[in-house]
Amino acid sequence: MKRILALQASPRNERSHSRRLVEAFLQASVAEQGEIEVVRREVGQGNLPAVSEDWIAAAFHPEPTNRPAPLQAALALSDELVDELFAADRLVIATPMYNFGIPSGLKAWVDQVVRIGRTFDFLPDDPASPYRPKVLGKRALIVTTRGDRGYGPGGPNAHLNHADVYLRDVLGFIGIRDVTVVAVENDEFGGLAFADSYRAAERALAQLAQDF
Ligand SMILES: Cc1cc2nc3c(=O)[nH]c(=O)nc-3n(C[C@H](O)[C@H](O)[C@H](O)COP(=O)(O)O)c2cc1C
Repeated sequence: MKRILALQASPRNERSHSRRLVEAFLQASVAEQGEIEVVRREVGQGNLPAVSEDWIAAAFHPEPTNRPAPLQAALALSDELVDELFAADRLVIATPMYNFGIPSGLKAWVDQVVRIGRTFDFLPDDPASPYRPKVLGKRALIVTTRGDRGYGPGGPNAHLNHADVYLRDVLGFIGIRDVTVVAVENDEFGGLAFADSYRAAERALAQLAQDF
């Protein structure tokens, strides 16, 4: 059975476009493909902590198999999130663009899962590259919504896009290199510009639901 891990990063609930699009996508995927288990992880409601001094000391501890109990405890949530990621075949992220980047809840998730020794290895003597990604064989889908327009490749605001472009980079760093992005623009403008963009995203997601 295929397992999809779905992250919801908008602080908005019913009014969130990214949340609604991904929920429809997940339902369509189950309807189209049958045997799919969906694991939902909320990251948008201020529920994930930032990494702490203890977290950092624990993650970079010289003897990871022999950490003192309080340091080990500081990694409990990180371990849970990393295990959840490894257990999934597919990763789906629903996120707004916030101030040209991602919302802080999703950044907290990234900081919890991009972890030395778990999702990547650091090999300082390797002449090719000191970094060895460990999260292999997975596909990711990013559904992102934006108030303005022109953030896509070649667009006038592409240089300001530190949201899905950043996510693609950081997922690639841990080994997830097969990443599809579906974006909706013009939320702040509304009207036809937004409706057209939203409908195009719905069509792209309906197509993807058949075999993602
Ligand atoms: C705090 C905040 C920052 C935002 N920053 C940007 C931005 O930098 N660029 C942009 O195009 N839209 C920006 N927006 C608009 C959102 O990206 C847009 O409304 C999006 O559709 C919200 O996603 P949601 O409907 O899933 O909550 C921002 C909105 C908020 C609330």
